[in-house]
Amino acid sequence: MFHQPGLPLPARTDVDAIIPLVSQRVGEAELAGLPSLRVVANYGVGYDNIDLAAAARRGIVVTNTPDVLTDATADLALALLLTAARRLREGLDLARSGEWDGWHPTQLLGMGLQGRVLGILGAGRIGVATARRAAAFGMEIAYWNRSASPAMESEAGGQRIEDLETLLAAADVVSVHLPLTAETRGLLDAARLASMKPGSILVNTARGAIVDQEALAGVLGSGHLAAAGLDVFENEPEIPEELRDLPSCVVLPHLGSATREARQAMWDLAAANARAVLAGEEPLTAVSLPST
Ligand code: DGY
Repeated sequence: MFHQPGLPLPARTDVDAIIPLVSQRVGEAELAGLPSLRVVANYGVGYDNIDLAAAARRGIVVTNTPDVLTDATADLALALLLTAARRLREGLDLARSGEWDGWHPTQLLGMGLQGRVLGILGAGRIGVATARRAAAFGMEIAYWNRSASPAMESEAGGQRIEDLETLLAAADVVSVHLPLTAETRGLLDAARLASMKPGSILVNTARGAIVDQEALAGVLGSGHLAAAGLDVFENEPEIPEELRDLPSCVVLPHLGSATREARQAMWDLAAANARAVLAGEEPLTAVSLPST
């Protein structure tokens, strides 16, 4: 069953596999309504929409779609970084307004990226791919991750900083690439946002709930942060008006993996995972319950 956005999962006794969207909650109640279910093949790499413990209790396998959307999402993170740093939203608004009065030397000056520090939160595949791209733009990479990442260090010259506050104070741009978990929810709270380097930029292509949206509007409004580029929001599809209205805030409707190639590959992988479980085989990309 490939499920439509915005609709709750219907209760059915004849369904043994579902491919939910990352926007759909698959919790205890939904699982209880699908007593024959054997596999939840999530259509996405993030699986914070699924209650893994509830699935495990019922012996239901959960899978996701890693790798196939890495490049698409890293490309979008770079697009947001460039858009925010070079004030492209304001430039587009000015060009479209019909009120542009011509070139002048101090118009919409942004941040040059060469030699700037990009602080990457989360050194998974997408974090590394984003860092690699930014390094090609001349940025220096610092990263914050539970453990050292050989890929981040060898592919992007990343330097690990173990203390989050130290990284936030040093980075010119912070880009979020963490999964949403109990530990990361609200990680960038008001205090941490205030501790970011003055004039710096925040990019989030991971999950909205990692950042306190109200506090972010505050630090953007006060000018403490120069700009933000956001693809994700806490209660999608709601995008807070304060963020939408700020000229320094670029907002997108969760487009990270939205290329034809990535979405097809996600579908192929989700379907292959579901088929494998139904055939009694190992799925290609199972998600395991985090150890407590
Ligand atoms: C994911 O796969 O988790 C993405 O957020 C969907 O674009």
